[in-house]
Amino acid sequence: MRKILAIAAAAALALTMSACGRDTGTPATGASGSSAAVAVKGTIGVAMPTKTSERWIKDGDYIKQQLEAAGYTVNLVYANDDIPTQVTQVNDMITKKNQLLIVAAIDGVALKGALAEAKAAGIPVVAYDRLLLQTDAVSYYTTFDNFKVGVLQANSLLDGLAASGKPKPWNVELFAGSPDDNNATFFFNGAMSILQPKIDDGTIKIPSAETDFKVVATLRWDAAVAKKRMENILTKSYASTDVNGVLAPYDGLSRGIIAALKGSGYGTGGKALPVVTGQDAELESVKSILAGEQYSTVFKNTRDLAAAAVKMVQEITGGTTVTVNDTTSYNNGIKNVPTQLLQPQVCDKSTCKQILLDANYYTADQLA
Ligand code: BGC
Repeated sequence: MRKILAIAAAAALALTMSACGRDTGTPATGASGSSAAVAVKGTIGVAMPTKTSERWIKDGDYIKQQLEAAGYTVNLVYANDDIPTQVTQVNDMITKKNQLLIVAAIDGVALKGALAEAKAAGIPVVAYDRLLLQTDAVSYYTTFDNFKVGVLQANSLLDGLAASGKPKPWNVELFAGSPDDNNATFFFNGAMSILQPKIDDGTIKIPSAETDFKVVATLRWDAAVAKKRMENILTKSYASTDVNGVLAPYDGLSRGIIAALKGSGYGTGGKALPVVTGQDAELESVKSILAGEQYSTVFKNTRDLAAAAVKMVQEITGGTTVTVNDTTSYNNGIKNVPTQLLQPQVCDKSTCKQILLDANYYTADQLA
C-alpha cells in the first residue's frame, strides 16, 4: 500500500511539474525502479473542434486508438464548431478530473478561462494542431510546420500556373482560414512569403485587390462562406477576364471555391478551371485532384500527429523528458510553448496517389 501511495505521489508530482512547464527530464525507471515516477494511466480528455471536416474525425479516432493501446481511458468529444459547447466540454473534463487534456481549439483564445481551472487543478494541457492562446496553462504543443504549409501551397500554385501555359501576368485570388485559428495566419504568411514578391514584380495580379488577411479570411473555415466570396469576386472583378489561380488553404474551402467557379462556367466548354490549392488530403479532394479538378493539397499525416500527442501524454504522465523540437516558433501571447513540429508534404495529380498509399492513409479501393 505504501508503495502504491509513493508511486501515485511521484506521478502526481511529475504531473504538477510538467503542468508548470518545469519538466525535469527525470526518466521513469520502469518496473525495477523505486524512486522515479511510474505512469499512472487515467482518463485523457480529448477535445476536438468539429466533425464537419474529415481530418478531425481521423485525428480523434487515431488519438483514441493509440491512447487505448497504451493503456489509457479516453474521453473524446467534438464541439460542432460551437465555442460555448467546447468551453462546456473542457470544463466538464476538469470537473471529472481527467488526468490530462488534449485540445484542438475552435477559437484559440476562448478557452483561457477553462484552462486556468485546469492549471489550478494540476491538469496538464497539450495543444493539438492549433495553438491555445493567451494562457500559461498550456504545457506543450504538437502540430505541423504551419508556415511551411503556406509555402508549399504557394509554390504549388506557381507550379500549376507555369504548367497551365497561360500567359503572365496570372490572375490570382487569395483565401485564408479562420481568423480565430492561429494556424490560419501562419498558412497565409507562409504563402505570402512566396507570392508577395510575385505580386510586387507583376507576375501575379489580384483583380479583386483583396489581399489583406482580415478581408480574405474565412470565419470557421466555412466552405459556404468561401463559395459566396468567390461568387462575389467573379461577378465584381472577372466580367472581362479569367481567373487563373486560387490560393485556398483547406480542402473544404477549395471544394466550395471550385463549386463557385463551375457555377460560373469554368471547367466546361474549353474554359479551364484555375489552379486551386488545398490542405488535408481529404478523400473528396484527393478524388478531385485525380480527376484533374483541384490542383493540389497539403498532406499532413494525422496518424503521426496523434502519435506525437500520445507520446507527450506518456512522457508527461510518466514524468520523463517531453519530446519537442521547437521552442521558439510558437509564442501564444504569454509564453513560448515547447512544440513538436511535424513535416507537411504537398501532392498533386502526379504524386498524391503514391504518397497517400505509401502512408497507408487511404486504401487503393478508396482512390480507385
Ligand atoms: C488545421 C488544418 C485544417 C483547418 C480547418 C487548421 O487548424 O491545421 O489542417 O484544414 O484547421 O479544419
